[in-house]
Amino acid sequence: MAAAHRSLLLWMVFNVYLISLTSAQDENQFIYHGFSESKLHLDGMAEILSNGLLQLTNATELQTGHAFYPFSFKSNVSSYKSLSFSTNFVFGIVPDPNNKNSGHGMAFVVSPSLDLSKSKPTAYLGLFNSSNYGLSTNHILAVELDTVQSAEYNDINGNHVGIDVNNLESNESATATYFSDKEVKNITLELASGNPMQIWIDFDETEKLLNVTLAPIRIPKPNRPLLSTSIDLSQIFLDSMYVGFSASTGELVSGQYILGWSFNKSGQAQNLDITKLPSLPVRGSKKRILKIIASLIVAVVVLIAIGATVYIFQKKKYEELCEDWERKYGPHRFSYKNLYNATKGFNDKELIGEGGFGKVYRGVLPSSNEQIAVKNVSHDSKQGMSEFVAEIVSMGRLRHRNLALIGFSDFEFSRGIASGLLYLHEDGEQVVLHRDIKPGNILLDVDLSGKLGDFGLARFYDHGSNPKTTNLIGTLGYLAPELLRTGKATTSTDVFAFGACMLEVACGRKPMAIDPENLNLVDWVTDCWKRGHILDATDPRLEGLYAEEQMELVLKLGLFCSHPNPAARPSMRQVMQYLDGDVMLPHITPDDPLIAAFTASNEASNVLVNFSELLERGSSHTMSTVESILIEGR
Ligand SMILES: *[C@@H]1O[C@H](CO)[C@@H](O)[C@H](O)[C@H]1NC(C)=O
Ligand SMILES: *[C@@H]1O[C@H](CO)[C@@H](O)[C@H](O)[C@H]1NC(C)=O
Ligand SMILES: *[C@@H]1O[C@H](CO)[C@@H](O)[C@H](O)[C@H]1NC(C)=O
Ligand SMILES: *[C@@H]1O[C@H](CO)[C@@H](O)[C@H](O)[C@H]1NC(C)=O
Ligand SMILES: *[C@@H]1O[C@H](CO)[C@@H](O)[C@H](O)[C@H]1NC(C)=O
Ligand SMILES: *[C@@H]1O[C@H](CO)[C@@H](O)[C@H](O)[C@H]1NC(C)=O
Ligand SMILES: *[C@@H]1O[C@H](CO)[C@@H](O)[C@H](O)[C@H]1NC(C)=O
Repeated sequence: MAAAHRSLLLWMVFNVYLISLTSAQDENQFIYHGFSESKLHLDGMAEILSNGLLQLTNATELQTGHAFYPFSFKSNVSSYKSLSFSTNFVFGIVPDPNNKNSGHGMAFVVSPSLDLSKSKPTAYLGLFNSSNYGLSTNHILAVELDTVQSAEYNDINGNHVGIDVNNLESNESATATYFSDKEVKNITLELASGNPMQIWIDFDETEKLLNVTLAPIRIPKPNRPLLSTSIDLSQIFLDSMYVGFSASTGELVSGQYILGWSFNKSGQAQNLDITKLPSLPVRGSKKRILKIIASLIVAVVVLIAIGATVYIFQKKKYEELCEDWERKYGPHRFSYKNLYNATKGFNDKELIGEGGFGKVYRGVLPSSNEQIAVKNVSHDSKQGMSEFVAEIVSMGRLRHRNLALIGFSDFEFSRGIASGLLYLHEDGEQVVLHRDIKPGNILLDVDLSGKLGDFGLARFYDHGSNPKTTNLIGTLGYLAPELLRTGKATTSTDVFAFGACMLEVACGRKPMAIDPENLNLVDWVTDCWKRGHILDATDPRLEGLYAEEQMELVLKLGLFCSHPNPAARPSMRQVMQYLDGDVMLPHITPDDPLIAAFTASNEASNVLVNFSELLERGSSHTMSTVESILIEGR
């Protein structure tokens, strides 16, 4: 009996020893890139998602969510530099797609308790309730990221950062901005943009200064803090304190997330490695685009459009058609049997995608081991057949490495298509209008370079002649306004569609607004430009991992190409010159009449400025560049 007791006691002592050992190791500093491995104390809507993202709230009304690091730190231990601490975290506030405004906000919290489950949502931010609001017995320090203006707490606006002690009337607050060391000015950020952002909170015991510094995720910690408040934490902290996050929703909702977090009691918190962070959830509308891109990334090497569906029954017709172009344009012919074998019998497993008038399969030619893509045109469709032949004809006649299939990096992608399109418009024997440029008709090759495919709707005409009115064909969102009016496809209408494509790929949005609440893509990019942050328009899933100059060029060029007035759009040759850096894009401010025309009206006739005028205005630079090229050429 006695022996049994002793061993139980020993076991307990051992366990207590172990726990104190681990906590001593952990409480002082930690770093998380995603929270899959963490043992955070969660309540309310808080949840660790399968990719490691810490969700505090999702877009559900009147909820709170809390996440606390499970060990308290001792503020009254001489071996630590007492109350000093440093922390760095990446957060994301994703707006509800059905609502323009987001709510309510989130906060970094230092609290004597890790149970705030009795606190209230909405403006209380999950920190307090009506019975304990404002009491000095709360011992709560919070740094709030507030996306709603609450007049009762003297909030300055609906997009601010504040330092709160025991209540929500901030000791100090400021509009969400960061200090750009490069541009030497403050730049405003929108907390609820759906983009990840980074924050640093540092307290130094000797200075008694609490600093809060905010920045977009791709910008390193700015030299100047957003808030720097003198505060005596020894009056607020108890001996044992917990650190964590709180967030709330009200009638206004948003998804509020933490991507990564480092905390340190004995020095500067380590910076997070942004490449290791989980990604924020994408909004429903973007999921479809993601799927399209995923299916494109299946590596396709060469698209050789081949008449596989034309079977023995229509052999005669097929031969007639073949003769017509095959004799002229070269021997691009494979037997149905070979194609059948190459695609494993048009096996569904080899299906890459479904283009206009037929399915596209991956295949390997047994003779050469060459990877090919085979389009199986529906035999029932007479129209399908003629469109298909148009495709074959153009493929055979036009030999250019960027025709056929397409790629990635938005820049290489755009350049690839532009180069193909320039060739169609200007460099061939005849002018070729593609008429159906859209991401679905663009394929990626192994080098992830863009290639233009699906010539199902292509039309030819002689250089210098006037295109005829034809059936209105193409895809809504990529159709230029004058094409809708006159039915005349021109190189300018191809340029318009190309612009819409560039913007769609760079921004990860469809050109047309999904619902009337949202801006259409051109308005959205123009809007970001007017606010001075054109890069905010980029797809948040890129997480800023692109060359900013190139992205800016792609966005601006995309806008020019989308101009409602065809005369104001650049030609494909100009587009190539800009992309290649041979000619600088003219400097245009967002309030230039050219840009105003996007939002002012859709009546192209009202637009007086055209692109060539613009070039003249910005010409000194342009001309000298061209001249120097000419001189070098001699
Ligand atoms: C939010 O989470 C709750 C519970 O986890 C779930 O029932 C609800 O569908 C989610 N709402 C959204 C908009 O994701
Ligand atoms: C620190 O702890 C000691 C004993 O545990 C206590 O006497 C002292 O008042 C505490 N100091 C503060 C500032 O809380
Ligand atoms: C308010 O919050 C405190 C601390 O979380 C809790 O003890 C108290 O019960 C709550 N009061 C109400 C009315 O919910
Ligand atoms: C600022 O913080 C101190 C604690 O250091 C607190 O006593 C004071 O009430 C706060 N001031 C305001 C205006 O909230
Ligand atoms: C930038 O913001 C900080 C803090 O809000 C302010 O003190 C400073 O004057 C601002 N600087 C400029 C150049 O606007
Ligand atoms: C807080 O910011 C001020 C002003 O930039 C700086 O002098 C001070 O060293 C900073 N303190 C900490 C703890 O980062
Ligand atoms: C905490 O600070 C110490 C001293 O600067 C440093 O060695 C350590 O890596 C830091 N830890 C974290 C998690 O930031």
